[in-house]
Amino acid sequence: MASLQFWKPGTVGPGSNLDRATETEENVVSSAPISSALSLQAARERLPIFKHRQKLLYAVENHGVVILVGQTGSGKTTQLPQFLYEAGWAAEGNRIACTQPRRVAATSVASRVAAEVGTTLGDEVGYTIRFEDVSDKERTRILYMTDGMLFRETLIDPLLSRYSVIMIDEAHERSIYTDLLLGVLKKIRRKRPSLRLIVSSATLDAAAFLEYFLSGNSPDEATIVSLEGRAYPVEVAYLEEPVPDYVQKAAEVVWGIHLQQTPGDILVFLSGRDEIDRCLEILSELLPTLPRNAKRLQLLALHAGLTTDEQLRVFEHAERGWRKVIVATNIAEASVTIEGIKFVVDSGFVKIRTYNPTTAMSSLVTTPVSQASATQRAGRAGRTAPGVCYRLYTEQAFERLQPTTPPEITRTDLTTPILQLKSLGIDDLMKFEWVSSPPAESVLRALEGLVHAGMIGEDGRLTVIGEKVAECPVEVNIARMLFASKDYKCGEEILTIAAMTTIQDVFVIPEGAAGALAELERRKFTAEEGDHLTLLNAYNAFVRYGRSSSWCKAHALSFRAMSRAVSIRSQLKKYMQRFGLPLESCEGDAKRLRRCLVTGYWRNVARWTADGTYRAVRGDTVLHVHPHSVLFTRKPRSGWVIFHEMEETKKTQIRILTEIEPDWLLEHGHKFYDKHSGASVAAQ
Ligand code: CDP
Ligand code: MG
Repeated sequence: MASLQFWKPGTVGPGSNLDRATETEENVVSSAPISSALSLQAARERLPIFKHRQKLLYAVENHGVVILVGQTGSGKTTQLPQFLYEAGWAAEGNRIACTQPRRVAATSVASRVAAEVGTTLGDEVGYTIRFEDVSDKERTRILYMTDGMLFRETLIDPLLSRYSVIMIDEAHERSIYTDLLLGVLKKIRRKRPSLRLIVSSATLDAAAFLEYFLSGNSPDEATIVSLEGRAYPVEVAYLEEPVPDYVQKAAEVVWGIHLQQTPGDILVFLSGRDEIDRCLEILSELLPTLPRNAKRLQLLALHAGLTTDEQLRVFEHAERGWRKVIVATNIAEASVTIEGIKFVVDSGFVKIRTYNPTTAMSSLVTTPVSQASATQRAGRAGRTAPGVCYRLYTEQAFERLQPTTPPEITRTDLTTPILQLKSLGIDDLMKFEWVSSPPAESVLRALEGLVHAGMIGEDGRLTVIGEKVAECPVEVNIARMLFASKDYKCGEEILTIAAMTTIQDVFVIPEGAAGALAELERRKFTAEEGDHLTLLNAYNAFVRYGRSSSWCKAHALSFRAMSRAVSIRSQLKKYMQRFGLPLESCEGDAKRLRRCLVTGYWRNVARWTADGTYRAVRGDTVLHVHPHSVLFTRKPRSGWVIFHEMEETKKTQIRILTEIEPDWLLEHGHKFYDKHSGASVAAQ
């Protein structure tokens, strides 16, 4: 199984620039243990961006907006904020912000930069992601943050007056909050011209950003700075025939590369955590068969579910006699650079959130990547030497891929973003300068949902509750439940459920025999009403008896996830107190609690069918219960459930279910159902 049966049609990348930097010189850099501040400084100076320092500082000085284009790994994210800091842009209490579409990137980059600056993380250099603020109000000068967090900050400080320079990083990804920020920042620049903006992109869509910022402004407003690339050619190999299971195939290809013994680390792109775990599992089962004289294989995962420390392990150099294989999600495509990768194995898939405006439901979907993504992934093999990219699909399949991924704003639920825009005083959504306009149907659906939830009045303006919900750092549906808990007298429990649904992987259920034991442990928390109440039980038990990692281990819970839930709950509790929402307990009245859940989840409703699957009430999609649900093997008595989220892989699965009575829907959602499906829920 180790043979690599691939067909190699060609090369991507610059082709014949092998002589730009000699391979040996590069290897010295990448294999030297970076231990002291001195070698960190030397490493900084070797990055391609270093020679552009003056040019960049001049551009920022003289233009409002600098669009920065450069290969991944050239030093944009880690170096430019430091250049600006050293040049005095963070003097007089000013701050430099750098936004990332992904949390993992914000945290890992911040800790790298803190090390380079020679400061403790959270002091001069910090990060802010949702529910986690590792920065100091007074002392932090360089702040890495998610784009969503900076956008939220505009609600409190509309001119973002604490910042002198804002770098919108990975702009080519076109995440929804990046797009919204670009729109808002263009406005802010008109009111506060001293603010500088850097829009950085790994690909060549720079021209579109330039045009966007020049329109309606003077020709000096924006300029492009391009960092010359230094990439090596990457040979691309395709499969001759499609494979039914790309996770299995990925493991086989990794094993094949390893047995061939050519040096260089391996980076594998899969779509999500489950696939990553499975791939690593297959590989670890193969490890004992490794020939005695072969290099050892170090197996590493990289995805958003890891702690910052775990994420940072992928950047450490492999020890002598070892080869690293990193199995990652899309995060490794552009946001982070790992040195020493010579082989890329690309599944060709990515998990993205999509939205169906007709049914007003969003779900996570595993879908084929775009050609641009595939090219970017392949490029990761050619950063320090020529490399090879194994695509786990055919060349014909590559040619059928769409050229680029559509911006998130065109395929996402706009309920929360529109509420936030309204709260910013942007009432006329038609007049907002979108980088790309959202589909009219999505805007309409979001507005309707907000009117229905009482957050926007008939006049199109935010209501008092709407104002408050906009500030709340959770999705609108969850915020709505928090507010409704006042009527249902269950604030205490809804608060816990809100916190528990924001974290992932609460239960740790390993494969095999240990898994069966863990499953028994988990059942101790099971509430027959469903998963939301099961999560509540687990939380309450943790707070009462546990709060230790040994207790968690004995009860199949993740200590890290539970501790995070405790922290998130206490942060949300402060919002509830500020909004005057009482923290009453439902005193075990599960019915009251479930009715309160319906106020948030009234769009995510499904009905049981005789074959054990469910049908979405809107859209009639066939839904499968996630195997981790307590309702996986049991029919709900009423036949009706609400669910937290939907995910599409080969089939559509729903996660975190709770049984409800259908007439509760009439109370909350009937207006909506009547209006758009032409039939009431009861009639279906
Ligand atoms: O943003 P861009 O892709 O242009 O580059 P960067 O993220 O600033 O990375 C510059 C260098 O820092 C790369 O060689 C990375 O490998 C290195 N780096 C690191 O060693 N550890 C991190 N946590 C982040 C970056
Ligand atoms: Mg970067």
